[in-house]
Amino acid sequence: MTPEPLPLAKPVIGAEEERLVLEVLRSGHLSLGPMGRRFEEEFAAWLGVDDAVSTNSGTTALHLGVRALGWGAGDEVVLSPFTFVASANCLLYEGVKPVFADIDPVTLNLEPAAATAAIGERTAGLLPIDIFGYPSAMPEFERIAADRGLGLLEDSAQALGAVDEEGRKVGSRGHLSVFAFYANKQMTTGEGGMIIPRAAGEAERLRSERNQGRAVDMNWLDHDRLGFNYRLSDVAAAIGVAQVAKLDRLLAGRTAAAGLYKEHLSGIEGLELPAEDAGKARRSWFVYPVRLPESADRDGVIRQLGESGIPAKAYLPSIHLFPQFKEFGYSAGQFPVAEGVAARSMALPFYGDLSEADAERVAGALESALKG
Ligand SMILES: Cc1ncc(COP(=O)(O)O)c(C=O)c1O
Repeated sequence: MTPEPLPLAKPVIGAEEERLVLEVLRSGHLSLGPMGRRFEEEFAAWLGVDDAVSTNSGTTALHLGVRALGWGAGDEVVLSPFTFVASANCLLYEGVKPVFADIDPVTLNLEPAAATAAIGERTAGLLPIDIFGYPSAMPEFERIAADRGLGLLEDSAQALGAVDEEGRKVGSRGHLSVFAFYANKQMTTGEGGMIIPRAAGEAERLRSERNQGRAVDMNWLDHDRLGFNYRLSDVAAAIGVAQVAKLDRLLAGRTAAAGLYKEHLSGIEGLELPAEDAGKARRSWFVYPVRLPESADRDGVIRQLGESGIPAKAYLPSIHLFPQFKEFGYSAGQFPVAEGVAARSMALPFYGDLSEADAERVAGALESALKG
């Protein structure tokens, strides 16, 4: 008999989430209410920043970030193709050309030298992504950006709780940074996002743009700029408040889960595990991606794991060949590191209360799938 299937990801929702959601439902203040503000304040306090602006997804937070930096038609922005597609789509929303550059083979993040080589006359900014929760080389990107007058937008959707090489929490360095709260993330609001503004005036503009272009002090149906409906509901914010309160515990659970995988997977021949933390940098565990040996049939391995109730996913693709980027003429083989990693990467079931038995079961099934 096959044992119960494992989940690929699992949110941790408890009594406090239920209590706060009920409080919002009973208050009748389902949007633009006090719970929304409370979520922003408590998130900002956890991160150690002055302010944080919530949105209804990480993607919409990225879009507001692109606009806040004034990136538009005719501009180019440099980023890695080894990412979730929203990192680049947000540029297309504003007519900006995504200029892809290859990744560091160890961290799997945008490689500073490759990014520098991709900078041209039209480059308006850099968009480093903290892939798989590993912090980007932000001190170096900040230097590059400052030297050349470029804007910086950090996509930290996968990295809430990560610490960078200077020991600072990702998102707290003073440039625009974005987080995301889909249900597989370190913390969730169901759907949701957050953008960390650089200054009070910028926060005001972000809040206006997410709310149809209406300034905080304006009346209903007054709008003084183009805006969107990118608001997070107070129902979702209530979940967020409960999640922030236990965020340290959620992160610790994921670190422990990664430790179990490391222990049980490290003996499997040819399997590459996620890079170890270097110096002061600390990964925040979002997923557990392994790299299969080049000779392995990844689809076959995924199928075989699935048959034993273990969901696994090819993760991530290198996005430069996606149809929406076709007009920019990217070709296969252009980003050998990203493409090589993309061809061999696979995400395993991953959640904070992954048990030793789960880790053993995954390791056993993976080992036999790799043997064919
Ligand atoms: C790197 C990255 N950027 C952006 C996003 C978009 O976030 P959302 O799904 O909340 O729109 C994600 C979501 O997984 C992501 O992984």
